[in-house]
Amino acid sequence: MNYQKAADYIKEKIGDKKPEIAIILGSGLGVLSEDIKDKIVINYKDIPDFPVSTVEGHKGELLIGNIGEKTIIAMNGRVHYYEGYDLSQVTFPIRVFSLLGVKNLILTNASGGINTNFRAGDFMVINDHISFFTESALRGKNDDTFGPRFPDMSQVYDKELIVKLKEIVKKHTGRACEGVYACLKGPTFETPAEIRALRTLGVDAVGLSTVPEAVIANHCGLRISAISCITNMAAGILDEKLSYDDVKNTAEKVKGDFRNIIKEYICTY
Ligand code: HPA
Repeated sequence: MNYQKAADYIKEKIGDKKPEIAIILGSGLGVLSEDIKDKIVINYKDIPDFPVSTVEGHKGELLIGNIGEKTIIAMNGRVHYYEGYDLSQVTFPIRVFSLLGVKNLILTNASGGINTNFRAGDFMVINDHISFFTESALRGKNDDTFGPRFPDMSQVYDKELIVKLKEIVKKHTGRACEGVYACLKGPTFETPAEIRALRTLGVDAVGLSTVPEAVIANHCGLRISAISCITNMAAGILDEKLSYDDVKNTAEKVKGDFRNIIKEYICTY
């Protein structure tokens, strides 16, 4: 895959804008796009090799512009393993961002809450992850230009940023959750037995994204922070069936908080 060709294409479109923060907007969380000023919009389909999402709620646009004093590059929509993409495609944008000189990555997603202290509509700051359930995004020949063959994973999510982000979440919503995220393959929601197993393993929230991107971003030395919108309690916790409509409806309800949290957070960098 030609990361440099994609980066060159974007560079040509954005001229002298130098994004320092990249943010990936998860399911139903694209609302932040309205806050990006003086923005340049690039369709994923026009960028060489860039993967295009097939999921409703995931627009395929790269937005480059300003929030406060910061120049950011936002992915309005991402692609997932369950859509049939290889993890090299899922994570392709991360390496492109690194070639553009981006130093910080903010990952956002929708997830199911496993920790029974959580409730739908909460925001969980991710402090670690479990990647056992998907293959590694680094499987295959190592590209030494990005990072080492055997990367350390002892601090993927920046500790200082976890504290900062939690404070902002608390300020806007009155509460803040923190915990471990596990990425599953999907596209099925989990069974209640799977959720009990994940709880035993110490997982607080489950979803279908984020970990591959974090693995690649950690490999190429980006400073990472991640936040999950708990759109529903995971299977079997409440006596109800799950549907993607619940995910979208909760994301829609909390989008104002999400927008304010991220806007304020970006300005603290
Ligand atoms: N499971 C997996 N992914 C999800 C969920 C869930 O319950 N909610 C939102 N994304």
